[in-house]
Amino acid sequence: MLQTKIKILANEKIAPEYYKMAFESAMIVKLATPGQFLHIKVSNGSEPLLRRPFGLHSIKNMDGFEILYRVVGKGTALLSEKKAGEELDVLGPLGNGFNIPAAEKETMVLIGGGAGIAPLFFLAQKAHNLRQIIVLIGGKTKDQILCEEEFKKLGVEVKIATEDGSYGHKGLVSDLLNALPHTQERLSIFACGPLLMEKEIAKFSCEHNLPCQVSLESRMACGVGACLGCTVKVKGESPTYKRVCVEGPVFEAKEIVWE
Ligand SMILES: Cc1cc2nc3c(=O)[nH]c(=O)nc-3n(C[C@H](O)[C@H](O)[C@H](O)COP(=O)(O)OP(=O)(O)OC[C@H]3O[C@@H](n4cnc5c(N)ncnc54)[C@H](O)[C@@H]3O)c2cc1C
Ligand code: FES
Repeated sequence: MLQTKIKILANEKIAPEYYKMAFESAMIVKLATPGQFLHIKVSNGSEPLLRRPFGLHSIKNMDGFEILYRVVGKGTALLSEKKAGEELDVLGPLGNGFNIPAAEKETMVLIGGGAGIAPLFFLAQKAHNLRQIIVLIGGKTKDQILCEEEFKKLGVEVKIATEDGSYGHKGLVSDLLNALPHTQERLSIFACGPLLMEKEIAKFSCEHNLPCQVSLESRMACGVGACLGCTVKVKGESPTYKRVCVEGPVFEAKEIVWE
């Protein structure tokens, strides 16, 4: 983990509310694992005071990488105004990251909802030559279906669901998971997206006894384990909590108390 200023190479709107920001940092490219995140100071002043966390989205080359983000509030609005050539103060890579299954015959099913697709692309970049991958992308509307072409360029199978039926299957991305023809013990699930989506997928994976890793979101302050502001309840004999920023953001779905 390092704290450093890194140069923005590009900051492009890719869909309504969604942006990709490219950075230059050979050190972060060298250190990063899929599923890890960066804690970014989005302004030079004291407003907002707290950094904002973003998953590493893609590695472009030896010294270039991207994040993909949705504008939801003050911090991300400020980020969307940044220009190529400016620098941002960044802490990271932070957190644990996904584990690529050891068994070669295991098919990885990557399930992303909205901006949740962001860290899964980096995972696909790392794993597509090692394992068979199926990507399930979900959104409320067609506008929220991101990265379809990028995944296809990696040669992985992509399936789409939109809640309003404007693109792909009409319904939830979890329907696509249910419909997958599978010999259950060969699937390994990786999910990132809205809490309700992750909860559904966790339920499915537990019922079918499938390994499932979920990347959780939580409001973060320090990002390095000191403030306990990001904890999530996990199963244990007495109530047990883990820090999303250090023990996560990736957890085994069966470990989480999904209430
Ligand atoms: C480990 C991690 C990785 C993330 N990766 C990405 C990513 O790759 N792309 C992306 O678009 N977003 C990602 N997020 C979410 C992102 O950090 C928040 O959207 C961002 O911090 C919002 O900042 P803001 O100032 O714009 O919004 P605020 O003004 O702080 O809040 C606006 C709204 O967003 C909600 N919100 C803010 N932060 C979070 C959060 N962390 N979790 C859930 N809801 C939140 C608030 O409740 C509020 O309703 C990630 C979060 C975590 C914890
Ligand atoms: S954000 Fe401070 S402990 Fe996780």
